[in-house]
This record gives sequence, C-alpha cells and structure tokens, in this order.
Amino acid sequence: TFILGIEGTAWNLSAAVVTETEIIAEVTETYKPEKGGIHPREAAQHHAKYAASVIKRLLEEAKEKGVEPSDIDGIAFSQGPGLGPCLRTVATAARMLSLSLGIPLVGVNHCIAHIEIGIWRTPAKDPVVLYVSGANSQVISYMEGRYRVFGETLDIGLGNALDKFARGAGLPHPGGPKIEACAKDATKYIPLPYVIKGMDLSFSGLSTAASEALRKNSLEDVCYSYQETAFAMVVEVAERALAHTGKKEVLLAGGVGANTRLREMLDEMCEARGAKFYVPEKRFMGDNGTMIAYTGLLMYKSGNILTLEDSRVNPSFRTDDVKVTWIKEEEM
Ligand code: ATP
Ligand code: FE2
Repeated sequence: TFILGIEGTAWNLSAAVVTETEIIAEVTETYKPEKGGIHPREAAQHHAKYAASVIKRLLEEAKEKGVEPSDIDGIAFSQGPGLGPCLRTVATAARMLSLSLGIPLVGVNHCIAHIEIGIWRTPAKDPVVLYVSGANSQVISYMEGRYRVFGETLDIGLGNALDKFARGAGLPHPGGPKIEACAKDATKYIPLPYVIKGMDLSFSGLSTAASEALRKNSLEDVCYSYQETAFAMVVEVAERALAHTGKKEVLLAGGVGANTRLREMLDEMCEARGAKFYVPEKRFMGDNGTMIAYTGLLMYKSGNILTLEDSRVNPSFRTDDVKVTWIKEEEM
C-alpha cells in the first residue's frame, strides 16, 4: 500500500509517500515568521504558495524510487486540530489530488499522527504518550477503541507558553530551544507556580510569574526554573497515567520533546517505575508529512476513508473524537 500524506496545521508544510515499512520520499517547506509568532493567514498563504511545488517534487522523488502516481492508493491530510486557514489550504490541495488521481481521501487527526509515528519508529507498543508541542499538551493512552486523554492543558500548550515567555524576554522565535540553552548556565532555582488540577495542567500562570521573575533574577536562572517547574508538572501527570493504566511504556511526542532536560526527567521517572521510555528520532517529533501519510495508511487499511462531504477541516478536532479502527486489541 502506498499513501501520500500532507501536513500543514501550522508552520510546516510537509508531504510524504510511505508504505507499511518504508518512507519513499518526504518534501518540506517551512514557514518562518519574520518577527513574533505565527500569523495564521500568512502561514496559510505560505502553504498555498508552496503546495503545488512540494507535491510536484514529492512525486518526482517517488518516481526516482520507482513509485508512480498511479501506484498511490490514498491521499491523507491533517484534518485538525490546527489553524483554520492553514487546514483549509492543505485540505483543498488534498481534495484536488484525490479527485485527479481518483483515489480516496483520508482525514488524519494531527495529534494521533504524532502518536502513531512514535509507535512506528520506536519499539513502543502500547505506551502512555506525553504529547507536548506548540499548541497541544496532553497525556494520552489507548483504551477500548480510542486514544483517551488522561490529562491536558487547560489553557495554552507548553511550547506556546515557552515561546511566549521567550518573546517577552527578547529571545527569538521559537523560544523553546533558546530557553533550553540559557537554562544550562543557571546558578539557582527560583520557585514558580506549579499548577496541576486533577490530571490537568495550566501554564499561563507559570509564564506570567516567570516573566515577572525576570525583574529580579537572571535570564539563565528564570529559564532553568521555568523548565524545571513545567517539566516536573508534565512528568507528574504522565507518571500518574502510568500508575492508573498499569502500562509499562512511555512515549514522548511533539516538538517540545526535543528538549534534553525533559527527556532526562522522563527517563528517571520511568527508571524508578520500571517502565520503558521511548523517543523517536528528532525529525519525527515536530510536524512532518510522514506522520500524516503513515497514520493515513493505518486508517486506509482499516477502511477509515472520507467522502468529499465529510472532508471539512476541524480546527478543534480532539484526540478522543477519533474511533481507532486500526488497532486490534488481541494483537497488542
Ligand atoms: P502542534 O500543532 O502539534 O501543537 P506545532 O505545530 O506547534 O505542534 P511542533 O513542532 O510539534 O509544532 O512543536 C513546536 C514547539 O516545540 C515550539 O513551541 C518550540 O518552541 C518547541 N521546541 C522545539 N525545540 C524545543 C526544545 N529544545 N525545548 C523546548 N521546546 C522546544
Ligand atoms: Fe504538531
């Protein structure tokens, strides 16, 4: 089976062709805002500008590997969650391809794609997933036909929280990696608000407090303390999900997962609980076309395809809205 998938929920336009076992090709064009954060309309214009050339290059690269457009079985696209204008641009490109090649459309939930690529590219089988990216922060695990959300942010995603604090501190976008670098030169920990409500998280109070702490403390110390506090929060919720589900694996997903300190803290927690900790290669942690194509392939093979009428995008598409048709529990 060959599936072509297109990702474009936010800053990254990326398309790929995959099979069950192989990435045939992937082509990416990244939108880089000149200053500040992502402007949804500008990002969508970027995607519209590059969609045709990305697909053209992808089909050329696939051809070099011996895969013709007529070999492709389905077109997958990120149907949500994400920025409305970006989602609509990518969905239009996907519909056109599906119509012109005469093959089905598959609508992929972006969060689930982050999970499935991690399961594909690591030995994880049935993990508790800590998914921390720009817009999303969730602790997720499969249970009875769905990816259940055990805990999530009640306000902003951890990546956006880091980026927002960094912007206020005069650091360039994206702030996550800059904060990580600054934190390495810290000399002390400053207490900041640690907010967990039940199994849910909140980062906005932490961000505000961190920005205020900059008046009396060094940037290095505040970056370090911000990371220690925020990461301890997400690790605590992941640990509680492990205890609750009795599962024995943790998978890290999403762009914030690039952070070395976060990995270290998760690794320690897993070690202490006798669980295995898995992190996919960095190229699969941020948004990428391969994760959409691969999840699309799983869905396609289990008959989970869309009619044109059902192909409308959903900017607030939830992880647990999706009926997981491709996992057979007896095989787990
Ligand atoms: P989603 O649509 O899934 O919410 P996204 O479109 O924001 O994701 P991702 O690539 O998953 O994209 O995540 C980007 C985020 O990851 C940014 O907020 C960025 O600051 C953060 N990030 C990247 N590297 C690091 C790092 N080393 N430490 C902390 N945060 C990081
Ligand atoms: Fe993402």
